[in-house]
Amino acid sequence: MSSAGILFRSPVERGRRIENEFAAAVLTGLRHHQKELPCKFFYDEEGSRLFDLICALPEYYPTRTETKLLREKADAIAGAIGENAELIEFGAGSLAKAGIVLGALKNPRAYVPIDISGDYLHGMAKKLERAFPHVPVYPVVADFTKPLKLVSTGARRVGFFPGSTIGNFTRAEALAFLRRAASLLKGGGLLIGVDLVKDPAILHAAYNDAAGVTEAFNKNILARANKELDANFDLDAFAHYAFYNPPHQRIEMHLMSMEKQKVSVAGECIAFAEGETIHTENSHKYTVEGFRELAIEAGFTPREVWSDPARLFSMHWLEA
Ligand code: AVI
Repeated sequence: MSSAGILFRSPVERGRRIENEFAAAVLTGLRHHQKELPCKFFYDEEGSRLFDLICALPEYYPTRTETKLLREKADAIAGAIGENAELIEFGAGSLAKAGIVLGALKNPRAYVPIDISGDYLHGMAKKLERAFPHVPVYPVVADFTKPLKLVSTGARRVGFFPGSTIGNFTRAEALAFLRRAASLLKGGGLLIGVDLVKDPAILHAAYNDAAGVTEAFNKNILARANKELDANFDLDAFAHYAFYNPPHQRIEMHLMSMEKQKVSVAGECIAFAEGETIHTENSHKYTVEGFRELAIEAGFTPREVWSDPARLFSMHWLEA
């Protein structure tokens, strides 16, 4: 296994940079009138463990629906993508999903997973190499939400962005990401999983599971601030609050302060009124047409779209 593209300084230096980024984001976000924390900071080791549990919850339909869709449409997807493609995964989250696509592709030339977590990425790359010994794996440790350069292998580039992670971006961020992807993947395309607008009751259940795993996932960002930023959030004094916002077509996750309280974060005192919330995540849902329009605006030509019979989730093939 060798590394393509981005060069980083030592892992210690990189860890420090991310910790500082977290500190800056938390302090800035908690000074806003509507307090907010960026959802990308959910994913420390514990947050990633909790997210894996979410994916297997009975109420959380996206993971199993998308995986089934990929399995059932694998041949059609491989046909649309064509031969000799290099598969570039943004986020490298799911061995199972990448495995389905790689297994169906004709003569895949390489697999390039891009993820900010080096440990996770290299573990995943090793597993993939074992499953597909004839496909070279070039892991890239990078934040794919920022501009990035990749070393060319000469093969046609095909991006893979499953899980509807695009839904966690604002519309402007989604457009910026898609624009960068369209230029990076020029001559190839992007296979992207997008969660669909649906009955709000289904959405509500998916983000308010009975076992309380999503609640633990949401609150883990406070636990992380306690550990890494010397904060003193009392996790029992905040409630998980997730609801569908119809005009914005998104689930919003918040943490609601259950009492008037003061919290210390990295030496700064943050005051909360009773009922005040910290907005921790948006999960946008799209119509098929709405997403195709966004893709066109970003410079893609939308081609095939696959969906499950209940139209819960969609998989788009966009030519770059
Ligand atoms: C990663 N992302 C697509 C998930 C979602 O559904 O927006 C994160 C998540 N948040 C709560 N549950 C799952």
